[in-house]
Amino acid sequence: MTAPIPALRKLFIKTYGCQMNVYDSERMAEALGASGYVTTERPEEADMILLNTCHIREKAAEKVYSELGRLKPLKAANPDLKIGIAGCVAQAEGAEIMRRAPVVDLVVGPQTYHRLPAMEAAVRRGERPVDTEFPEEDKFDHLPLGPRGGPRARRAPAAFLTVQEGCDKFCAFCVVPYTRGTEVSRPAERLLAEARDLVERGVREITLLGQNVNAYHGAGPGGDWSLARLIRALAAIDGLVRIRYTTSHPNDMSEDLIAAHGDEPKLMPYLHLPVQSGSDRILKAMNRKHTAEHYLRLIERLRTARPDLLLSGDFIVGFPGETDDDFEATMDLVRAVGYGQAYSFKYSARPGTPAAERPGVAPEVMDDRLQRLQALLAEQQRTRQEAMVGREVGVLFEKPGRMEGQMVGKSDHLHAVHVSDPRAQIGSEMRVRITQSGPNSLGGDLL
Ligand code: 5AD
Ligand code: SF4
Repeated sequence: MTAPIPALRKLFIKTYGCQMNVYDSERMAEALGASGYVTTERPEEADMILLNTCHIREKAAEKVYSELGRLKPLKAANPDLKIGIAGCVAQAEGAEIMRRAPVVDLVVGPQTYHRLPAMEAAVRRGERPVDTEFPEEDKFDHLPLGPRGGPRARRAPAAFLTVQEGCDKFCAFCVVPYTRGTEVSRPAERLLAEARDLVERGVREITLLGQNVNAYHGAGPGGDWSLARLIRALAAIDGLVRIRYTTSHPNDMSEDLIAAHGDEPKLMPYLHLPVQSGSDRILKAMNRKHTAEHYLRLIERLRTARPDLLLSGDFIVGFPGETDDDFEATMDLVRAVGYGQAYSFKYSARPGTPAAERPGVAPEVMDDRLQRLQALLAEQQRTRQEAMVGREVGVLFEKPGRMEGQMVGKSDHLHAVHVSDPRAQIGSEMRVRITQSGPNSLGGDLL
């Protein structure tokens, strides 16, 4: 006797935070595919809603409670609606959320979502399961490759692939080592199989993800593989045309990875390499274990390997103890590097981290520093974008643009580029001459 096919139920996932959460949300949807769920973009028609949360900066839990408040009317309209909290807030504060929010039916951490089908069954029995373990088994060994049942779905041309999770660096401000656990690298052959599967389903560009992606050291034929070795093996897959990776730590930027930027054409000329601060004193207090000079030398070596490399970074202003001079050192470093784009944040004390114990910088000082830093970064971004005008770039088209007949995609340097030309099709990688630079995108003509 074959098992009865479960009725189709609808799953809505709201994803907060980093790209790793985006990847996890896709995999959660695939896992729940086995329980008869298909995804929907409309929360009001969902049978289950999952909030895949982020804990990196302040007010993380508050955001979850206010989102739960907004979901209450949906639950009132449909008492069978199940609501789950996933991700890093679930990991850090799941039990507390269960206590405070009776609308929540399940809590699942980032390391146990392969157990979602069993948890969903428990919810149907009237239980309220919480699973925030760091389990022995590797969740990825227990997740389906692609959606189960039915035809294997075509994928958008650009996809994420998590190759490494967790972090052993313990930067003094950061919750990741606590919510995501210690560094784990996935086996190389498993990743190659997953990448081939993605390419068969229409993917042309893969971004390799990890909290510390360049610390990758997964088991592979002949011993542990480095990220550079994995990239070279991926580059041999026919049909895969672009590879990126994020997020990296300066201390794990190895010789072979720098070399790959110079001689692996499928590795795109864009690198997100956070430095956080330009002051050696603050870098030390942050437990970053490198100096500003070390970072600048690294950038030089990378640019020697790949002169047109576009750099991105993360910065924190107002870390405990940051003086005006420390902040000026950050501004100097930014001027010395010349970023193509970057993210900057006001420091926020995260519970359980060493820096949270230290006396903070006044809020108005932080505001002022953030404004000044963001103005400088925005000017650098504009300059680099405008410098693309007149140049020929590769663009992988991803979706229709806002204007009739327009198609948008990403350039090699990760700029959004739009063209109006019927030859530009989703999934095609074409040469474009850039003719204009707008606030957040470039425009051009197919060659
Ligand atoms: N406060 C402010 N920014 C933070 N980040 C991480 N933790 C904090 C914090 N406590 C920033 C860092 C990191 C990025 C993902 O988020 O810049 O690189
Ligand atoms: Fe957090 Fe990144 Fe530092 Fe790890 S390296 S502790 S993820 S900021």
